[in-house]
Formats: sequence, structure tokens, C-alpha cells
Amino acid sequence: MQTFEDVAALWQVLADWRREGLRMALVPTMGNLHEGHLRLVDAALQHADRVVATIFVNPLQFGPDEDLARYPRTLADDQRALAERGCDLLFAPAVETLYPEGQEGLTRVSVPQVSQGLCGDHRPGHFDGVATVVSLLFNLTRPDVACFGEKDFQQLAVIRKLVRDQHMPIDIIGVPIARDHDGLALSSRNGYLDRDARTRASQLYQCLADSAQRLERGQDSEAVLTQGRRQLEAAGFRPDYLALCDATTLQPVSTWQPGSVLLAAAWLGNTRLIDNLPCRS
Ligand code: PAF
Repeated sequence: MQTFEDVAALWQVLADWRREGLRMALVPTMGNLHEGHLRLVDAALQHADRVVATIFVNPLQFGPDEDLARYPRTLADDQRALAERGCDLLFAPAVETLYPEGQEGLTRVSVPQVSQGLCGDHRPGHFDGVATVVSLLFNLTRPDVACFGEKDFQQLAVIRKLVRDQHMPIDIIGVPIARDHDGLALSSRNGYLDRDARTRASQLYQCLADSAQRLERGQDSEAVLTQGRRQLEAAGFRPDYLALCDATTLQPVSTWQPGSVLLAAAWLGNTRLIDNLPCRS
């Protein structure tokens, strides 16, 4: 697997592939890769002839009090894992390469409505930062397909809307959450949890699963969500939200049915975890 930091070298290879008529899938990441990311590569390999991963810790999507400085950077391990999984090329640019004229006057992309509510309320500007870098990466690499994890459910909804609104000829593939043995959704931020917090962390998934069961039994959604928030607090979490929403618009709904999704975000100490459970049948 080749790694490029420069745009010119990347373009050369992409142009060759395009000339050969090869389909290319993009897997954008911020590095510190775990099994969840590697499943994005698996999905990409199923949909394309060549897979390009990107590693870029995007400063635009971090708030002033967030973890940009301490976000784990593990490039050598990531390169090894991507190569073993069959990724063809890694693009890992510096901030100055993607934003050569700085971040202040940079052209921004904003996806209203679906970026609001849920994480959008708790992380102002976050989804504008995501939409800006993702559209920039799409423009740079012009993929046929791009794969994103369903763990960042709102992010995936924002990207799907971005691609629809901009008529981008890119198939967006959502890849189901990879979970640890106790149900905890895999995340780079799980590395921040100490032993006690790690033991409690699986209660976030447990709360979603219990809430889904209560909804399936026909209990009132408001009562279920209130009980779920209490369940999180009892397990030591400070919930940002527990919500039942339409899976496309992310507007609140009151019925648990295919096309709806339970979403949660909650703090354990200084670590913010998110998870979700879509209603599949
Ligand atoms: O999900 C992530 O890792 C990031 O938000 C993404 C999509 C790579 C954009 O920086």
C-alpha cells in the first residue's frame, strides 16, 4: 500500500486508475484505526476495484474545548492495519496541504436541518466542519463510492444529504457498528476510558437495547426515553440526549418502526460516547 501526503502524487495514481476504468472507493477516517474502520475497508472492497483510505484529524470539526490536541495519532499502526486489510492507497495530508490558505477564510459547507439537534446542539459547528472536509475530500479524489460507519449516525445522514443536494455521483455506503464483546460500540475515544469507566461504558448500548425492547412491547415513547435517561444516570453517565428519530431526517418520532432509530450521547467522566440502534424489522 502506498502512502501519499501530497495531492499531486495522489492525483497521478487516481488518474491512472480512472484511465483503466477502475472503480474507486473512499474510506475517510481520522486514524487511530480499529476493527470498525477496517470493516469500512471490507465494505469498500466489495463495491470497488481500488480502495483509498484517508487519515486526517480535521481541526474544523473540533470545538475549542474538545480533544483535537490529544486525539490519538498512530500512523504506523494504521498503515500496517490498512495494508493487511487490502487497502490500496493511503492519503494522509498535513493540515497545510488540505487548507493551504488557512482555516479562517476557508470556503465552508453547511448542511442545515439534519445537522441540527442531537450532536449538532451539543457540538456547535461540528457538522459544518465534517461537511466541509468530506466535500473537499470528495472533490480531491472523486470516488465512485464512499464508506462511513453507522456509529456516527447523524454524520452519515449529513453526508447523504450533502451528496443528494450537490448531485455528487457518489454511492454512500453505511456500514453497521462494530461492537466489543459486551456491546460497546468500537470508537477511537474508548481509549480514553479508565478500567472502571470501560466496565460501565457498555451500559450505553444496554440502555438502547432495553429501550428498544420496551418500545417493542408497545410502551409510550416519552416514558421509555425518560426511563432510559434515568438508566444512564444510574450507571454513572451524564446523558446529552436519548432520542427516537426518523432515520433520514433525524426529526423526533414517537413510533418504533422500520425507518426509526434510537440515538444516544452521554459522558462518562471526560469522555463523550455516542451510540444508536436502528429499527431494522
Ligand atoms: O468519522 C470520521 O472519522 C470523521 O468525522 C470524517 C468523516 C473522517 C471527517 O473528518
